[in-house]
Amino acid sequence: MTESGGRLNNRRIALGITGSIAAYKAVELLRMLQNEGADVRVLMTNSAVEFIGTLTIETLSRHAVDSDVLSLRGDGRIGHIASAHDVEAIVVAPATAHWIAAMAHGLAGDTITAACLAASVPVIVAPAMDGGMYMHPATQANLSTLGGYGYRIVEPESGALASGIVGKGRLAALEKIVDATVQALSGSPVRDSAATDWPDTDSAEAETEAPAKAEAVAEAVAEALPSRTDLAGRHVVVTAGGTAEPIDPVRFVGNRSTGKMGIAIAEEALDRGAAVTLILGNVSVQPPAAAHVARAETAAQMQAALQALTPPEGPLFDLLVMAAAVADFRPRSPQPKKMGRSGSITLEFESTPDLLAETAERVQTAVARSGRKKPVLVGFAAETGSFDRVAEKLKRKGVDLLVANDVDSPGSGFGTDTNKVTIFSIDGTHEDLPLLSKREVAELLLDRVLIRMADAETPADGEPAAGMSAEAPSEPTEAKR
Ligand SMILES: Cc1cc2nc3c(=O)[nH]c(=O)nc-3n(C[C@H](O)[C@H](O)[C@H](O)COP(=O)(O)O)c2cc1C
Repeated sequence: MTESGGRLNNRRIALGITGSIAAYKAVELLRMLQNEGADVRVLMTNSAVEFIGTLTIETLSRHAVDSDVLSLRGDGRIGHIASAHDVEAIVVAPATAHWIAAMAHGLAGDTITAACLAASVPVIVAPAMDGGMYMHPATQANLSTLGGYGYRIVEPESGALASGIVGKGRLAALEKIVDATVQALSGSPVRDSAATDWPDTDSAEAETEAPAKAEAVAEAVAEALPSRTDLAGRHVVVTAGGTAEPIDPVRFVGNRSTGKMGIAIAEEALDRGAAVTLILGNVSVQPPAAAHVARAETAAQMQAALQALTPPEGPLFDLLVMAAAVADFRPRSPQPKKMGRSGSITLEFESTPDLLAETAERVQTAVARSGRKKPVLVGFAAETGSFDRVAEKLKRKGVDLLVANDVDSPGSGFGTDTNKVTIFSIDGTHEDLPLLSKREVAELLLDRVLIRMADAETPADGEPAAGMSAEAPSEPTEAKR
């Protein structure tokens, strides 16, 4: 997510976050770098992951976090080496005393030190720690060693520290860190992003291959272009699959959902240019590689993922489609150890939270508080026999569209590649679609969503609001009534 006209337009930056109490400030720093136009990929130490987790960062940066120094990327490249080669600057903020010491001694035990060692780009380091730690001769010596490497140190500030003591060690103002990054990059041309995705080209063999590579890049770009662009610039979150509620570490209570419907929606949204986050329970199909996937096996994990995406400052998505089959009940007291075979057992169940209603309410509150645009909310309701309850359910849950399917009807529901659904709308209408492939259902559903988005974003004079695609949604099929 970048804005044009910033001082870091089209720059590719790695943000390294280490295990300081100030790690939470890195989320805001990430947004500030993005607002300057940078594409930011985040590297974290294990301690930083302990402090702030990865879900928020991954959602905001639109990239997987590199936190495991032994991990490979999906394309087989070594994560930290790829980061080192792909970026034009590395910003380490906050930098702990421990990380600074490791870096000063070239210890490549985490992805940030490893990337800094492998890279030959400007490195900006913003220390944050207790005053005593900062003033210790060891830390001061380590910082001068980093200075000797040419790293830019953004000095911490004096003030009240997390320990309650007043001293020097508070992370510098974030504006200063951004300014130092801008300064470090001033004068160096923006690197061609496509070129950096290729391995080193300084061998003779690489030179002779150059024209073929240019063609391959053009082909890859053409392939990556969405077939339609009416969801470009939108962040779509889809929940998919069934939840698995543990009985003990081995057994669970689940349902028959395979995740096919939710994944079809994610694929359709990606094809139409959206950035997609998939919150994935138990599924039997492969999620699309271009989606950011957050695994959430239980109703509680799905709830946590949805809460992280709906902070009080405003929802972090434009569209939420809740297609997952979330358990309505879970074992009240899952056993910590595998239960042995011993006669019969009785399980006591408790209700799980109503995630659809709860999320809709959080979204309402966050939108009212932040003044941000209200995202479109879509729920799915698996029914058996009749849809009599659906219109009332839609109102009660507070969503814009509720997609009902009769899981008893042939070709509809769990595990099939087809679905027969009725789309109920908050405006009181409903629309029966014929038996269609799940992908066709996804296409028609997203068409309906776009109409709602356009309605919400068109000012009274009828002109589409800024940022709205002028492209009309595809004509509804014969199913529209
Ligand atoms: C609550 C808490 C806050 C901490 N804050 C800091 C800090 O601000 N700066 C620092 O250098 N270490 C801090 N530490 C200690 C580091 O987390 C610890 O040295 C850790 O090993 C750093 O790992 P990393 O640099 O690999 O992320 C803190 C520890 C705790 C428990």
